[in-house]
Amino acid sequence: MLWIPIDRTLDIPLKRQVYDYIRKQILHGELAAGERLSATRELAVQLGISRNVIVEAYEQLLAEGYIEGQQGAGTFVAPGAFLEQLQRDEIKQSFDVSKGKKKEKDLIDFRSGIPALDMFPRRNWGKLAKEVCIEAPNYIFGYDHPEGRTELRRVLSHYLKRTRGVECHEGQIVVSSGATQAFSLITKLLLTHGDEVLIEDPITHEIQTIFTSTGANLCPIPVDEQGIRTDLLSGDKIPSFIFVTPSHQFPLGSILPIQRRIQLIQYARATQCYIVEDDYDSEFRYDGEPISSLQGLDPERVIYVGTFSKNLSPALRLGYLVLPQALIEQCRNLKWFNDLHTPSLDQRILARFIEEGLLERHIRKMRKVYMNRREILRKALAREFGEAVKISGDSTGLHLIAEFTQVEFTQDLLERLLQNNVKVYPVELHTIQKDRHRNKVILGYGNLREEKIDEGVMRLKAALEF
Ligand SMILES: Cc1ncc(COP(=O)(O)O)c(C=O)c1O
Repeated sequence: MLWIPIDRTLDIPLKRQVYDYIRKQILHGELAAGERLSATRELAVQLGISRNVIVEAYEQLLAEGYIEGQQGAGTFVAPGAFLEQLQRDEIKQSFDVSKGKKKEKDLIDFRSGIPALDMFPRRNWGKLAKEVCIEAPNYIFGYDHPEGRTELRRVLSHYLKRTRGVECHEGQIVVSSGATQAFSLITKLLLTHGDEVLIEDPITHEIQTIFTSTGANLCPIPVDEQGIRTDLLSGDKIPSFIFVTPSHQFPLGSILPIQRRIQLIQYARATQCYIVEDDYDSEFRYDGEPISSLQGLDPERVIYVGTFSKNLSPALRLGYLVLPQALIEQCRNLKWFNDLHTPSLDQRILARFIEEGLLERHIRKMRKVYMNRREILRKALAREFGEAVKISGDSTGLHLIAEFTQVEFTQDLLERLLQNNVKVYPVELHTIQKDRHRNKVILGYGNLREEKIDEGVMRLKAALEF
């Protein structure tokens, strides 16, 4: 007779408990094909539950093919319902993250590109989300156009013109799920196997992976303290596009001067290629106004990519492309193949957030917070390392570069730092041509509270044995 552990305190219906238990026994092979199951009446008496519960559980198992039987002849385990369980156990183990949790709690993580998560404007966003959900017309809950909500694209085009000098109308914008999806769309739009992409070196490792996923080749152009070395652009090969982060080079932090911007555009015009401008965190500029976009200099040559991951939250997965006329239709189609469209309600909330001036208010507030964090980090580095450290790339954004005179950030050293509960990210992680930046680390401070920044630098010093 089958014994089924029934637990009445659980929030799971009894029928589900009986069904689950028998199903697992069959899948795991503990009830073998052809084996007879207890009669419903007997089992109900034995477990002290209603016979109907057992009948319904059996009916479900019958409908799904786990058991078979005929009225009066008994119920039997069906053949072919046993599944080898080895894989499941392995998966379970790899998801067991409880080990080492305590350590992670004390870790001070200088990961870059994360805004202050505890300062997301929850109240304003939540209020708008509630209003939008209640007041939005019914069609908002249906399928939408791939390019995104018109109201968002409209406010965004005004906002970008005003704050970033981007020349565009709403029809040029395609809303994407973060900048990451925008890069994937550009890859599909412009790259096939063997194509060339000219790209800043170093540049985010993830972006390199996306562009090479189609078999394209990256042609690295070194970056100096002013950004991409435009003097090294050669006419040898015609690239599909040039990828740049001109407002705040990632990771080195340089700002591309107008002369180099013009050279880039002249090069793109001469080779008939596009420029992809990734403008990920330029609103947080501390020493003056945000730098104007490259797109404003030649809207037909530049594909401008923006994101709300840094000025609001990466969890929103909201970004956008501003496209030259020639690419709009194709990009909309690709977005449609990809995921139909980015969630409409979130787009509508964001449109209201921008329209009501809340985005700019939030950015103003956060600029002060980040400026203060940057100051604390700079002071702590100067205090602990003095002449042995050089800081750069810190005029904008949520990270800076610390270059050490006598340190090489090897894997061993990074592990030693982790043992000291501090995590830093070497520039070398993002390089294409290796061994040029081994003494530099990226220190992100956006999501680190002031006291953690100080403590983190002290841990860094202890581990580096200065
Ligand atoms: C250089 C760069 N661009 C863009 C992004 C933003 O990506 P997403 O909008 O998908 O969050 C990142 C993320 O860290 C980044 O490092």
